[in-house]
Amino acid sequence: MKIAVFRKAHFNAAHRLYNKNWSDDKNDAVFGLCNNPNYHGHNYDLEVKVIGEVDPETGYLIDLKYLKDLIKTHIEDRFDHKNLNLDTEEFKELNPTAENICFVIWKILRAELASKFELVVRLYETPRNYVEYPA
Ligand code: NI
Repeated sequence: MKIAVFRKAHFNAAHRLYNKNWSDDKNDAVFGLCNNPNYHGHNYDLEVKVIGEVDPETGYLIDLKYLKDLIKTHIEDRFDHKNLNLDTEEFKELNPTAENICFVIWKILRAELASKFELVVRLYETPRNYVEYPA
């Protein structure tokens, strides 16, 4: 029986979107308010979806306490209350768009999660704007 389990999490972080190879005018034109040189914050909501088979011995797909701790340790502790551009290795060179943050989170969790599970990460930058990987 293939089934999916979800865990929601949350972190606050600041970012600035810009391409250092572009002029200020082009960065303003493309990234608008998100190019504010003094940064700005978002309340990111994260949904982690794990897909797999139920273990007949436990009746669980995955222990949600384990999943909760995995997200806390590897994502929330790493990104919560951080300036993504300045405080994290992941976004020193990579533009911290919702797309890139979502993919980075997926890669981090994928490396931790047993290969028998499929993984989907959805990241809300605002209640109405969100991205999902894999598409
Ligand atoms: Ni922004």
